[in-house]
Amino acid sequence: MILRGITVLTLLLFLFEGVTSLRDVRLLVEPTTVVRGGTAALVCSRDMQGAPLYSVKWYRGNHEFYRYTPMEEPDTRVFGLPGIYVDMNRSNGTQVLLRRLELGLAGNFSCEVTADSPSFATQIATRFIDVIALPTSTPVLVADKDRYQPGELLRANCTSPPARPPTNLTVYVNEEPISALETSLLSSDSGLFTTRVKVEVPVTSRLFPSGRLRVACYASLYQLYNKSAKLDFLTPETDPRPERITLNGGASTCASNQLLLLFLLIIPIMLKQHRQEPVTHDDDSEHNRISLVGG
Ligand SMILES: *[C@@H]1O[C@H](CO)[C@@H](O)[C@H](O)[C@H]1NC(C)=O
Ligand SMILES: *[C@@H]1O[C@H](CO)[C@@H](O)[C@H](O)[C@H]1NC(C)=O
Ligand SMILES: *[C@@H]1O[C@H](CO)[C@@H](O)[C@H](O)[C@H]1NC(C)=O
Ligand SMILES: *[C@@H]1O[C@H](CO)[C@@H](O)[C@H](O)[C@H]1NC(C)=O
Ligand SMILES: *[C@@H]1O[C@H](CO)[C@@H](O)[C@H](O)[C@H]1NC(C)=O
Repeated sequence: MILRGITVLTLLLFLFEGVTSLRDVRLLVEPTTVVRGGTAALVCSRDMQGAPLYSVKWYRGNHEFYRYTPMEEPDTRVFGLPGIYVDMNRSNGTQVLLRRLELGLAGNFSCEVTADSPSFATQIATRFIDVIALPTSTPVLVADKDRYQPGELLRANCTSPPARPPTNLTVYVNEEPISALETSLLSSDSGLFTTRVKVEVPVTSRLFPSGRLRVACYASLYQLYNKSAKLDFLTPETDPRPERITLNGGASTCASNQLLLLFLLIIPIMLKQHRQEPVTHDDDSEHNRISLVGG
C-alpha cells in the first residue's frame, strides 16, 4: 500500500518534471525606449533545468525575424523583415542586437524557447519596445507684447518642434508653473506631433519682485530631452533709470595726504576736460532688454 503510494508519487514527480523542464523564460530589453535610429539589445533568459535546447525564435508581433537552432548548421537564421536589422556579430542563442530602429518598428517583441525531445516544452516572453523621435530644436516662446503694465493681460504661446510622442510643455511664471489655457496637438506627416500651449497671465506689480518678470517654457520627453525658452520683461515703473552716471574717481580709498595733494593740483585740469565732454548716461537703458534664452 505504502509502496504503491510512493511509486505513484515518483511517477507524478517524473511527469511534473517533464512538463516543467523549461521555466522562467524572460525577455529583457535595453533600452525599452529607443531614440529612432538607435540600437536595442534583447536578452532572452530561461531556466532549462538541464534539458537540451531545441530552438529560440524571435518575433516582432507575429513575424519571426531571427532563429537560433544549436543542432542545425548554420545555427542562426535571419528572416528578412522590413526595417529589422539584426547585428549578426552581436546576436546568438541568448541575445539579439537590433540596429537602426525606426518609428514604425515600435511594438511587441517576443522570444520563444523550445526544449528538445522528449518534452518539446515551449514558453514565450513578450516586451513592448517603443521607438521615439526627439525634437530637433528648442521650444519657441512668443508673447503678444514686448512689455506689460500692471492690469494688462500677458498672452503667450509656447510651441515644441515635432516629436513622437508629443513633448510635455510646462509654462512657468517666475519659477511657478501655471496651467495652460489651451493645449493643442498638431500631427504632421511622418507621424510626429507638434505641441502648443497657450497661456494668459494677468500682470500685477507683484510679478516683478526684482524688477523682472520671467516667463519660461520647458519641453520634455521622458528623461531623454529637456529644453527651455525664456522671456524676460522689465518692470515699467522703474523705467527709465537715470542713475548710474559713470564718473570715475572718488572711489579711491587709499587717499594718503600726498595723493590728496596731487588730486588737488589736478582738479582744475579735470574740470576743464569735464566741461568739454558731455556726461555719458549708461545708455544700456532697458528698452531692448527682452531676451530669448534657449536652454
Ligand atoms: C561583423 O564582423 C565582421 C568580421 O569581424 C565584419 O567584417 C563586419 O563588418 C561585422 N558586421 C557588423 C554589422 O558589425
Ligand atoms: C551572446 O552574445 C553576447 C554579446 O555579444 C555575449 O555577451 C554572450 O556571452 C553571448 N552568449 C553566448 C551564449 O554565446
Ligand atoms: C502588445 O501586447 C500587449 C499585451 O499582450 C497588448 O495589449 C498590446 O496591444 C500589444 N501592442 C501592440 C502594438 O501590438
Ligand atoms: C497664439 O496662438 C494663437 C493660435 O493658436 C494665435 O491666434 C495667437 O495670435 C498666438 N499668440 C501669440 C502671442 O503668438
Ligand atoms: C508627460 O508627463 C506625464 C506626467 O508627468 C508623464 O507621465 C509622461 O510620461 C510625460 N510624457 C513624456 C512624453 O515625457
